[in-house]
Amino acid sequence: MARLTLNALGKTFGTTTAVAAFSLDVKDGELVCLLGPSGSGKSTLLRMVGGFETPTSGEVLIDGEVVTRTPPERRPTAMVFQSHALWTHMNVFGNIAFGLRIRRLPKAEIASRVGRVLALVGLEGYGKRQTNQLSGGQQQRVAIARALVLEPKILLLDEPFASLDQHLRERLREEVRDIQHRLGITTLFVTHGQDEALSLADRIVVLKEGRAEQVGAPAEVYRSPATPFVAGFIGSMNRLPGSVEAGRFRHGALELPLEGVPDGPAELAVRPEHLVVRAAPGGGAASLRRLTDYGTHRIIDLETSEGARLKAQVADGADLPQGPGLQLEPTAWAVFRNDQVIARSPA
Ligand SMILES: Nc1ncnc2c1ncn2[C@@H]1O[C@H](COP(=O)(O)OP(=O)(O)O)[C@@H](O)[C@H]1O
Ligand SMILES: [Mg+2]
Repeated sequence: MARLTLNALGKTFGTTTAVAAFSLDVKDGELVCLLGPSGSGKSTLLRMVGGFETPTSGEVLIDGEVVTRTPPERRPTAMVFQSHALWTHMNVFGNIAFGLRIRRLPKAEIASRVGRVLALVGLEGYGKRQTNQLSGGQQQRVAIARALVLEPKILLLDEPFASLDQHLRERLREEVRDIQHRLGITTLFVTHGQDEALSLADRIVVLKEGRAEQVGAPAEVYRSPATPFVAGFIGSMNRLPGSVEAGRFRHGALELPLEGVPDGPAELAVRPEHLVVRAAPGGGAASLRRLTDYGTHRIIDLETSEGARLKAQVADGADLPQGPGLQLEPTAWAVFRNDQVIARSPA
């Protein structure tokens, strides 16, 4: 277990700023997900923590000790890379034992440690297998075992399941969460998948262009996105342009009271599951375009009188009239102006 502190960590490549003055405290045993689109600096950040990239500015501390310029093999960290490439000229045992052989551990200890991590990742008895005799999911487990066998204080995972199909990804995700809990190992997990971050993380860091847009627990980031970018990136979100006039947000016939907000342009963000749709005899704010039944839930596509498209989750939907006769009632929402939240629905 270890505490990780990043102090104004920065990395530039020529004129590209990959990571900009990034600060974060990761608690003992905490699992933090770095979530962001491709190119947002996730890998660069992780590589600086692991010692594979030298920061241009700032520092990395582990348990209060500065390791910014310590080489990877002398840090208490282990990394599972985005392309996990196992060594094909070694069997599973050889792949996992490699790091311990370099550290010149006695043979018997190597054997017992490899045996333990194989059991931990559910590959008991697979030591003699060649890596090309393994499925994609098994190879991924070996890559994780290879990191865990070093008994790192901090585990770094860079999109470890990106190449696997949905079902396998979900299963391995649960296994990693399980192992991480049992070992109490401080973990940084990089992903560009919001589902993965929401289901795995104690806290999520949403990255955009090398900066943290928001840091918070999954529920917090989901329910109270701090910026329009976070609102759009996590979960499904409707965004309606409009304006605030005399204490009310307006988008066509859709209105919301907003106390103490100055007049001006604004954007309403509301999730499909937080939009109640009712028939409004005599005309409303929107019309029904289409109903899609996903089995587990139903989604309707709407168009407002202002021409904006949006989605709402409905229990039934069959009762809704065709034509411009729908009333919209957001039950949880945020209003943004200039990339900042200016109002939020009461909790
Ligand atoms: N070795 C490098 N040389 C030049 N530019 C790089 C290098 N590594 C990363 N970058 C740039 O830094 C930015 C962040 O990249 P990266 O950390 O790989 O993002 P992510 O992992 O979120 O996709 C990108 O613009 C990328 O092109
Ligand atoms: Mg990456």
